[in-house]
Amino acid sequence: MTTPAHVAIIMDGNGRWAKARGLPRVAGHRAGVEALRQTVRAAGEMGIEWLTVYAFSSENWSRPKSEVSDLMGLLKLFIRRDLAELHKHGVRVRVIGERDGLEPDIRALLEEAEELTRANRSLNLVIAFNYGSRDEIARAARKAALAVKAGKIDPDSISADTFGEFLDTTGIPDPDLIIRTSGELRLSNFLLWQAAYAELVFLPCYWPDFGRTDLAEALRSFASRERRFGGVAARDVAL
Ligand code: FPP
Repeated sequence: MTTPAHVAIIMDGNGRWAKARGLPRVAGHRAGVEALRQTVRAAGEMGIEWLTVYAFSSENWSRPKSEVSDLMGLLKLFIRRDLAELHKHGVRVRVIGERDGLEPDIRALLEEAEELTRANRSLNLVIAFNYGSRDEIARAARKAALAVKAGKIDPDSISADTFGEFLDTTGIPDPDLIIRTSGELRLSNFLLWQAAYAELVFLPCYWPDFGRTDLAEALRSFASRERRFGGVAARDVAL
């Protein structure tokens, strides 16, 4: 079975999971963190090399203040509690998204996680935090424009390949598979540039209920797809 090198996940449905149980939304996010822990473990065991998770989008700021602060608190807790464990298992943490505008203590924790795990080589865990694709692409365009202005690059050298170097994901392979839970069928400003040839799998379960069997199901679905990257299938070349 072909295992995708890079799996990216839109962890959706925490709020609905909580509502269905008569619990506050924060309980759904807490259960979501637990599902994330299990998923990181399972992904490593299944031979996935890169796992990207959408933890907080640039649009999530529009949620009630208390929920935003709950999500910030959960990220801090996740890094404080799980960083040593992730490091022990050789996980390399990388964070994508806009750092400006985040609280200094959160920025410091994100930097600490990246610094501590920089040399690790088992699973690469990419946390998309304060991330939105359009914002990422606009920031990349700004960086490219500044490089042109400073005389560092020639405008003619900007191509689909070289532009990728200005994105937050520079050095990270494009996702092969994007999974979204909770039954919603959209990308919601997640990895729009990088998703050009990704296979998409939408699962009905809410994120807190996502587990090893759901990941295995998504991998099976991926393995059954024929990826042509705009070309033709090998067997059809001679036709
Ligand atoms: C979507 O559920 C989920 C989020 C907005 C955040 C995802 C966050 C976690 C899984 C926990 C936090 C993890 C870290 C590392 C910070 P929703 O609230 O949009 O659910 P709904 O669509 O049912 O309301």
